[in-house]
Amino acid sequence: MKVTVVGAGAVGASCAEYIAIKDFASEVVLLDIKEGFAEGKAMDLMQTASLNGFDTKIVGTTNDYTKTAGSDIVVITSGIPRKPGMTREELIGINAGIVKSVSSSLIEHSPNAIMIVVSNPMDTMTYLVHKTTDLPKNRIIGMGGALDSARFKYRLAEALGAPISDVDGMVIGGHSDKGMVPLTRLATRNSVPVSEFISEERLAQVMEDTKVGGATLTKLLGTSAWYAPGAAVSGLVQAIACDQKKIFPCSTLLEGEFGLNDLCIGVPVVLGRNGIEKIVEIDLSDAEKAKMQESAEGVKKTNGLLAL
Ligand code: LAC
Repeated sequence: MKVTVVGAGAVGASCAEYIAIKDFASEVVLLDIKEGFAEGKAMDLMQTASLNGFDTKIVGTTNDYTKTAGSDIVVITSGIPRKPGMTREELIGINAGIVKSVSSSLIEHSPNAIMIVVSNPMDTMTYLVHKTTDLPKNRIIGMGGALDSARFKYRLAEALGAPISDVDGMVIGGHSDKGMVPLTRLATRNSVPVSEFISEERLAQVMEDTKVGGATLTKLLGTSAWYAPGAAVSGLVQAIACDQKKIFPCSTLLEGEFGLNDLCIGVPVVLGRNGIEKIVEIDLSDAEKAKMQESAEGVKKTNGLLAL
């Protein structure tokens, strides 16, 4: 199992680290345009191998796509991250050009790869990859919901005063401050609806804190977060590599599912060796449907900024 991660910045490197630590891939190629940067990160990470007990080989390269040839899974994290006060949508001008050229170079060298898009604005970048490559829809996956759901569970556990392992929940919709739809109705603490434990007001607060999860960190860190994004990507990569058939909310091209068309947005999917093996069309309440509709309108507005 060979995995390529493009972009050796904080998100790309932490993604490579988590993949290596989980030790299911034979090789991770880290590629960056900055001279020597990916090589340096790869060497530093390889020097943790004996300490952290993994055998995954991590190779760094400065923009040499021949090193990525024959990858089974490719991850695009390249582009600029947001700065405090910026929305993900504001990154579109620079990141669209980067994602377009990176995705074509990757597919040229790994025509059978499954592609995971992380660069922001992620739903729009995932849609752009659809429009610029000929890949079937099961092989283009946008990573947002896995991260947003992890942040949702963190906030739920905090509000419940419960361990995170006791909590389950999912965020669908667009990966944006306004577009996320945390499904509080379906969130549980060890299979009991969370509404049994906390008030509607507290739950509304959890929802708001979840939606601005990325922005809160960007303000604290001065740049966008990386540990949870890296861990979320590694979860998707593992589900595909190990054919786990796990359900994650991911951004995928919708063609009528959830009443939506011609956009990529976060919905629950089954991930296995063929990438997105199924879109899981759960029943949403009228209020959730309305939120999804509004979220989709926001994503479509950003898609409209693409020069397709
Ligand atoms: C975040 C970025 C990765 O939410 O979108 O932290």
